[in-house]
Amino acid sequence: MQETMEDLLPAELRDFLSCETPDAWLDAALAHPDLLLIDHAQCEKKAASTAMSLMYRYVDRPLLLTKMSQLAREELLHFEQVIRVMESRGIEYRHLSASRYAEGLRRHVRREDPQRLVDILIIGAYIEARSCERFARLIPHLDAELAKFYRSLVKSEGRHYEDYLMLARRYAAEANDTSVEARIVFFAECERQLICEPDEVFRFHSGVPAAA
Ligand SMILES: [Fe+2]
Ligand SMILES: [Fe+2]
Repeated sequence: MQETMEDLLPAELRDFLSCETPDAWLDAALAHPDLLLIDHAQCEKKAASTAMSLMYRYVDRPLLLTKMSQLAREELLHFEQVIRVMESRGIEYRHLSASRYAEGLRRHVRREDPQRLVDILIIGAYIEARSCERFARLIPHLDAELAKFYRSLVKSEGRHYEDYLMLARRYAAEANDTSVEARIVFFAECERQLICEPDEVFRFHSGVPAAA
């Protein structure tokens, strides 16, 4: 029996995202399996480096340091796993330009701390939740090896999303910043646009393929 999104994703995570990945993205992903894996590797590497850069900037927050250190290690393991899959399939790693997605979210980050940190953490939660949703979306269409791998990623990226969101709420509360829920809603809408509007380039986090 084919797994549904309800089987694969926690309801809370599905509610957090404002839209499902459009079918047109899924079609493009299945038509470009090599590109998908290369960009996936790229995303894992970037997820690790985002976590590391937070560790450099916010040295006075022990919970953040611990969570980000764990997260960076996990993302690097994912990176190694993707590289192994690519190698076994004869797919060569090459440099790809970044999609508009992460930058499209980060351009809205407020400048001053702790608002800056809160926004970056909320964005982290969206990136993790969307990755999780895309893995789940792909799983029913993949071969057994990749489906198994992506099922394990759904679990860990789901945890990462929870950690980012927990940290955002915690540091906002500590600073008596009451804007956090409104910021979550704000970024939900930015994220929805990036996912549901036409996009020239196909990537792991791209929008609807423009000229399908
Ligand atoms: Fe990952
Ligand atoms: Fe992650």
